Amino acid sequence: MHSLSQVYKDHPVTLHHPLMDLNTMEEVPESYVWPPFDDYLDDETAKNSSIPIISLSEPSLDVLNQISSACEDWGMFQVVNHGVSSQLLSEMESLGNRLFSLPMKQKIKALRAPDGISGYGLARISPFFSKLMWFEGFTIAESPLEHVRCLMPDDYEHFCSIVQEYEHEMEHLARRLMELILTSLGLNKNDVKWARNGFESMHGVLQLNYYPLCPQPSNAMGLAAHTDSSLLTLLYQTSTQGLQIMKERHWVNVPPVPSAIVINVGDLLHILSNGRFSSPLHRVLVSRAQHRFSFAHFWGPTSETSIYPHPKLLSLQSPPLYQSITWADYLRLKAKLFNRALSSLLLSDGIPATNQ
Ligand code: OGA
Ligand code: NI
Repeated sequence: MHSLSQVYKDHPVTLHHPLMDLNTMEEVPESYVWPPFDDYLDDETAKNSSIPIISLSEPSLDVLNQISSACEDWGMFQVVNHGVSSQLLSEMESLGNRLFSLPMKQKIKALRAPDGISGYGLARISPFFSKLMWFEGFTIAESPLEHVRCLMPDDYEHFCSIVQEYEHEMEHLARRLMELILTSLGLNKNDVKWARNGFESMHGVLQLNYYPLCPQPSNAMGLAAHTDSSLLTLLYQTSTQGLQIMKERHWVNVPPVPSAIVINVGDLLHILSNGRFSSPLHRVLVSRAQHRFSFAHFWGPTSETSIYPHPKLLSLQSPPLYQSITWADYLRLKAKLFNRALSSLLLSDGIPATNQ
């Protein structure tokens, strides 16, 4: 059983809407119509800023500086020359294409149980919103074999072997990035218990995301604004537009860069860095012209590992801002409080999590 499964069992995602096949819609049904959202993209700040692109080809002091500035200023950056082959990335894209273009009656054979972690379904954050998102997802927490066997009885072995290879490559990259990020904070592997043994205890959950073409994109929302509950998220956004990040109260596009992987600081890394690295709000808008695929890999320590502001980063001038919490408990808190979960752990004027 995946170490986070119990959390999902305790917090089932129940929805009061039937699943609809968005691919066949000629207009956006009422349950998917969002109030007009503020679009600050015409603003000069948004136009003139773009998230950093960092090359990992040669590890150097300069790369560490680029990483720490990107994590501080944006909480997001794109990496290139990261070692994951572009052929593997495009194979993943074809798998996503095949999986999500299956007929709905086939896809629901792999439906995620309300209290389950893996399978096909709506966005996990859906219960916090009265409107549905223009989104389909397929979550892989352990082996996808059982689900994929139902979905593609003739070709499940090929599908699973590509996913396995992708997970393996991403795990390698996630560990490498985590090491660079800790180093950029002035920490080494021995300073962080779960980082010893080459980050062996880091775990990932892979989420395949699909945003179908939308007949009225300005009325719909692909994925509503949220922060990630991970330490770090590695996102391959294929060559499609749609992802936006909130920066200084403006939404900024995250343009696709060929073969680049988007790295997103999650809430746990924000806590560990004692607020120095930001965990940015981000969202996905949909389009009439182009559907979107993305593959998000959420990385964290084992579910029972405590995360807290690292003592080496604290001083009289920078006292700890957050309480200590395990990944499992953080997900429980997020399932209750959603975007207020992080601030509920603030030590000064926040509400202590234990009193929720
Ligand atoms: C997520 C996410 C962005 C995307 O899955 O948490 O932010 O582009 N995905 O799909
Ligand atoms: Ni996200």
